[in-house]
Amino acid sequence: MLEELDGRVAVVTGAASGIGLAMSEAFLAEGMQVVLSDRDEASLDAQVARLAEAGGSVSGVVCDVVDPEAVAALADAAWDRYGAVHLLCNNAGVGPAGPMLQTTPAEWRWTFDVNVLGVAHGVTTFAPRMVAAGEGHIVNVASQAGVMTTELLGMYCASKHAVVGLSEALYRELEPTPVGVSCLCPELVRTEIFDVGRLRPDWVDVHGSSGATQAALGEILDERGIEPAEVAARVVEAVRSGRFWIFTHDVTLGMAMRRFEDLQADRNPTIIG
Ligand SMILES: NC(=O)c1ccc[n+]([C@@H]2O[C@H](COP(=O)([O-])OP(=O)(O)OC[C@H]3O[C@@H](n4cnc5c(N)ncnc54)[C@H](O)[C@@H]3O)[C@@H](O)[C@H]2O)c1
Repeated sequence: MLEELDGRVAVVTGAASGIGLAMSEAFLAEGMQVVLSDRDEASLDAQVARLAEAGGSVSGVVCDVVDPEAVAALADAAWDRYGAVHLLCNNAGVGPAGPMLQTTPAEWRWTFDVNVLGVAHGVTTFAPRMVAAGEGHIVNVASQAGVMTTELLGMYCASKHAVVGLSEALYRELEPTPVGVSCLCPELVRTEIFDVGRLRPDWVDVHGSSGATQAALGEILDERGIEPAEVAARVVEAVRSGRFWIFTHDVTLGMAMRRFEDLQADRNPTIIG
């Protein structure tokens, strides 16, 4: 539990946009020193410069979370500069959408590399150092898609279920230590998550129809998504109180419960209309 955030050090991956940027801003508002990292160097530099100009104690480190050596270099940079890391947010993620029958092997590899291995690299790199330091907290960013499923996001759901499983097991593993764990499961948040093409490497070939699904989901986010700052406020509160589950919408618990009601009744998954 990190009750006192003022003067502490946070590292946020995928911090140049959306929820990662909002968490970085919220941590700065709490008096933290924040290392923003992202693989998008131009956006990262712009956000770090903006926040520094506003008086924030920030630094930026380019890091592709897919690469364990880059994540290790991120940790070294943070410890070299500040001497400690108290809070890590494994937030970087991508949101490819569409029916699984129209996905490609390369898309699966990329999605799991970023969404699952990216989190794992953060955990295996930072957690041992936090345990050795005797304090710390890790927030892994999963999704509502980590506790329920939808046919629109099969591959994404699979990756986010992995993040939930990883996080819950990590909580158990670290329970005897002074390092806490939270798992953030947002529903719709107004960000660029469905503008997947801007992040997708050239080697990832996609089915021709995937762009239309992405665009439709992007419109839904714009219309119905909550602001990233609302999510960030919940994260701050959860880190302070040491809460594991961080939900952003009441509907998420209902979705999760539906699975267990199906299990209990021994019936096939309820189709969500
Ligand atoms: N927006 C939503 O509705 C929503 C809902 C549930 C979960 N999430 C999760 O929230 C997290 C943040 O997404 P967002 O909605 O803010 O989207 P976003 O696209 O606005 O921001 C994601 C950031 O991650 C960075 N990123 C992507 N791949 C990376 C990599 N390999 N290494 C380092 N950085 C990388 C991007 O450059 C971008 O700056 C993701 O894990 C996403 O799955 C989002």
